[in-house]
Amino acid sequence: MTSSIHRNVAARLVPAWLILSVVLGALTYWIESRRVDDFVFDLATEAAVHFDTPANVAMLYDDPERHRPELREFLEQSDFVGLKLYSSEQRLLIEVWETENRELAVASAARRHDFPVAGGRHYNELRVGGTLYVQALIPLMSSGQQILGYLEGIYWVAPQTLKAIAHRVGDALLIVLSAVALITLALYPVIVVLNRSALRLSDALLASNVELMRTLGSAIAKRDSDTHAHNFRVTLYAVRLAQALRRPNDEIAALIAGAFLHDVGKIGIPDGILLKPGKLSVAEFETIKTHVSIGEDIVGQSNWLAKARDVVAFHHEKYDGTGYLRGVKGEAIPFNARLFAIVDVFDALTSQRPYKPALPLDEVMRMLAQGRGAHFDPKILDVFVPLAAELLREYAAGEESDLKGCLAKFEGRYFSRPSPVG
Ligand SMILES: [Fe+2]
Repeated sequence: MTSSIHRNVAARLVPAWLILSVVLGALTYWIESRRVDDFVFDLATEAAVHFDTPANVAMLYDDPERHRPELREFLEQSDFVGLKLYSSEQRLLIEVWETENRELAVASAARRHDFPVAGGRHYNELRVGGTLYVQALIPLMSSGQQILGYLEGIYWVAPQTLKAIAHRVGDALLIVLSAVALITLALYPVIVVLNRSALRLSDALLASNVELMRTLGSAIAKRDSDTHAHNFRVTLYAVRLAQALRRPNDEIAALIAGAFLHDVGKIGIPDGILLKPGKLSVAEFETIKTHVSIGEDIVGQSNWLAKARDVVAFHHEKYDGTGYLRGVKGEAIPFNARLFAIVDVFDALTSQRPYKPALPLDEVMRMLAQGRGAHFDPKILDVFVPLAAELLREYAAGEESDLKGCLAKFEGRYFSRPSPVG
């Protein structure tokens, strides 16, 4: 149990640690990148001061090329590698570059960008030849808050700046990963202890449920002395047949509960009819039939026992539709009930009862073959036939305590407790 708890807790904590680390790492990177963008905007805002008078912008409108030398000088004193000025109608008036960089000029022109509204700003990141540039756009405002034009500054992010960002991101990531790892390690023993106690409670709950099933089975056994051993045998036969049919574990668990409790409804049948040695009248047989619906009601009272319903409610149905209580046929009868019908009749025929001896196996198999496609599902019967002799050898003469031990092993395998770690 301990190693599976460690495995389960680790299997959930490690992915959570990784996901949290990736998310926090990406957040750290985004915050650091924003710092560079903010820095570039500050520079652009500073540069805009030189252009935000109507006179300055008007002179560019008139003859931009005449002002190229001044702009180039201004650019050399700034931290930008390129500047562009646009009219208020978003027409490019002039662009100047610190050094000739055709590739950068083409890339910056190709990048479609927005023209921000008053008070707004816009930026793009450009990667040209492995170098990062930030393209920032801000509106040039008059003192009356009119947009006079737009300034676009192209800023070269120096390799040392990128390196500094990478270092800061790396440091922040290291701190984040270490903090998350430490918290995970600190929580680990707490979660393991909580899980262990939850598993103990789950085991106790499962044991109680199995007890409940056994107690109900015993209750009906007190009324009919043969029923207890019959319950154990048919349940064992049913599980072995289901295994041969490769049924899923949850269906086998439902089959165990259903097989063990199939006749639990007989609790509600009066002794005078249930224990009557002679032949039953038609009315008495109608009363006997009601053990199916009474049983269905009983198992329906408990969520855990409700899994037994398919067998309890349909165990007297026949494949050709001539059974009771509902008279359904073929695959309308739940699979577990079709399977159970075979082992129930097999056990009745191979067991000694006060009113009849145990029949020899070959005669029993002949009788079962006669019911193929009529009482029994032919496909399930075909899997049962080669198993029958072995099952009879293993369980038919078994003491009740031996049968109980065999069944307990199957219960341990198929009744899974609810897992507290999901
Ligand atoms: Fe029955």
